[in-house]
Amino acid sequence: MTELRVSILGASGMTGGELLRLLAVHPRVEVVAATSREFAGRPIHTAHPHLKGFYQGLRFSRLEESKVLDSDVLFNALPHGVGARLVGEAVDSGVRVVDLSADYRFKDPDLYMRIYKAEHPRPDLLVKARLSIPELVGDKIRGAPLVSIPGCNSTASILSLAPLAIHRLVEDRVVIDVKASSSEAGGKPSRWSHHPVREGSVRPYSPWGHRHVWEVRAFLEDELGWTPRLSMITHAIPSVRGVLASVHGWLRDGLSFEDLARAYMSVYRGKQFIRLKPMRPGIAVEPPDVKNVVGSEFAEVGFSLEEEVARVSGFGAIDNLVRGAAGQAIQSMNLVMGWPEGEGLLVPPIRP
Ligand SMILES: NC(=O)c1ccc[n+]([C@@H]2O[C@H](COP(=O)([O-])OP(=O)(O)OC[C@H]3O[C@@H](n4cnc5c(N)ncnc54)[C@H](OP(=O)(O)O)[C@@H]3O)[C@@H](O)[C@H]2O)c1
Repeated sequence: MTELRVSILGASGMTGGELLRLLAVHPRVEVVAATSREFAGRPIHTAHPHLKGFYQGLRFSRLEESKVLDSDVLFNALPHGVGARLVGEAVDSGVRVVDLSADYRFKDPDLYMRIYKAEHPRPDLLVKARLSIPELVGDKIRGAPLVSIPGCNSTASILSLAPLAIHRLVEDRVVIDVKASSSEAGGKPSRWSHHPVREGSVRPYSPWGHRHVWEVRAFLEDELGWTPRLSMITHAIPSVRGVLASVHGWLRDGLSFEDLARAYMSVYRGKQFIRLKPMRPGIAVEPPDVKNVVGSEFAEVGFSLEEEVARVSGFGAIDNLVRGAAGQAIQSMNLVMGWPEGEGLLVPPIRP
């Protein structure tokens, strides 16, 4: 029986489509509104042909005409800035919001202005929003009116970094190197993000500092109480889905691989969507690989130590559209509602 009526802003897009795909089989949820300008008035499968046969009674509606404020939960999958005001109105009227955009990831409106070059319409809500990586925030977001999902690069980075942060295993200087797929850029191609231009190409993106680094900083500081010098660089790779974050730090004196292993185990033991992959010379292990998680909420988290120079590396492999966006948003909604975290999300990845 349906318990919750949900709306999706930006439902014709990449992450909106993933919300619709995953929510189609969520046992407690009914999607009652899905917005799009281009597809307004048309059935869901016109934008998402793979969903034909699902959502028979639902049509896209324009943002201003949709009944999103009548729902219980609203997912914001619009480009940043577009939905920030409406999200505020929804929270004011008691609708719970899970925001996939960058609009509510910072507490500081000046930082939002600096990174996104726009005044934030609801600075009062920035301080109330909770940034959610479900395994790391758990019940702390239960009942929260506004939950914000870190970006996909940030999610892969935080998952691989958290045990090092929580157990303070590395020195206060960390470099994050992210490999990012083309669907990160959304459904509308631009000159440089369009897949034919990316195919066969591997290139650095924002080498002077990616804007997602601020979200990682915010999460480490607010949730884990750690403020290292943190630097992030991303690389555009030619695949369609998947993010691999490699985080590099320097092991503190007197610690060993066993300390690393204990830290990762203690943070992720029993977490249904995390697959731990310790990597050590002489022991055959499959490395964390986006190929193993595509289409699913699972994350593969690995770690290794180059003993001669004390370099620690953590690795996080995720599907950017699921764990990096729609899946993590639904997992967070489940926690907000006090439901089992994996409700509706236990779908195995696809391979090859
Ligand atoms: N792609 C990823 O891997 C990823 C991962 C994590 C988070 N995110 C975040 O999720 C959000 C959506 O990303 P996406 O990749 O799904 O983008 P997308 O494919 O470009 O979809 C954007 C959606 O917003 C609608 N839209 C765009 N501009 C609008 C406007 N001015 N007014 C009303 N509707 C508008 C679009 O539909 P119409 O044009 O038909 O209105 C579409 O439904 C972004 O904030 C992004 O940063 C993306």
